[in-house]
Amino acid sequence: MKGIILAGGYGSRLHPITLAVSKQLLPVNDKPLIYYPLSALMLADVRDILIIAMPDDIPQLSRLLGDGSQLGISLSYAAQPVPQGLAEAFLIGADHIGDDEVALVLGDNIFHGNGFYDLLAEHRRNIDGCVLFGYPVTDPERYGVGEVDETGRLLSLEEKPEKPRSNLAVTGLYFYDRDVVEIARQVRPSARGELEITDVNRYYLEAGRARLVTFGRGFAWLDAGTPQSLLHASQYVHTLEDRQGVRIACLEEVALRMGFIDADACHRLGAKLSRSGYGEYVMAVASELAG
Ligand code: G1P
Repeated sequence: MKGIILAGGYGSRLHPITLAVSKQLLPVNDKPLIYYPLSALMLADVRDILIIAMPDDIPQLSRLLGDGSQLGISLSYAAQPVPQGLAEAFLIGADHIGDDEVALVLGDNIFHGNGFYDLLAEHRRNIDGCVLFGYPVTDPERYGVGEVDETGRLLSLEEKPEKPRSNLAVTGLYFYDRDVVEIARQVRPSARGELEITDVNRYYLEAGRARLVTFGRGFAWLDAGTPQSLLHASQYVHTLEDRQGVRIACLEEVALRMGFIDADACHRLGAKLSRSGYGEYVMAVASELAG
């Protein structure tokens, strides 16, 4: 399975913060925002990942993450000069996806909770159609909204409906089979002029090939697209990290635990950052797991 992180967009809801820097490089507590969606793909065992971003942002993103080899993964970059909707990711990423399945994650989405790894492992296998992940929110009208019946079967999908039929937001993590590029090519721009991901998902829904998996209570799905949600995300991560002494979305740790790198390599990555608490943590994890 291939991976795509859509890290494009103007970040206009964060202006002026994002006038000169990509939203995905802003800090969420102790690390850049993009670490969180990247760690989600790595936890799904996705190792070949395309990062799509505004042309000006690619040099900085690649300065941060490089070609991924230090983490035992492969990262490549593609430009989205003018953001034209999330479904454009499949057109820009068509060659990268090839004949494979693909996991798409939005660059400002943060997923955290017990059982996340198991859930990803369960649903990444044998994808027939698409797998969407739903999350109950108090403000569904801000999101794609999925409606399910009592058996969990998906009934409808709507993008930012004025009158949502449920409180289940469709989160920014999606698994697709190999048909997605062809389907995205058929999608026409919406009233707001965008190639909507919800239209791609609706195509699968109408073919009876869309599933919505719901994250339960105790799971955290946060987006960080506004000053308030960015602050809330930092507070959430800080509270947990401070209390438990673990780090959320520590890429070096994820790479080590997933078996992408060994403890020595992980320790070396930590040593490069050893003047920060993050670097100390990476070294400590490497020493602990080296046994
Ligand atoms: C996009 C999607 C929406 C989804 C959301 C998740 O909205 O269009 O369906 O629920 O991401 O973050 P945006 O945040 O681009 O407005």
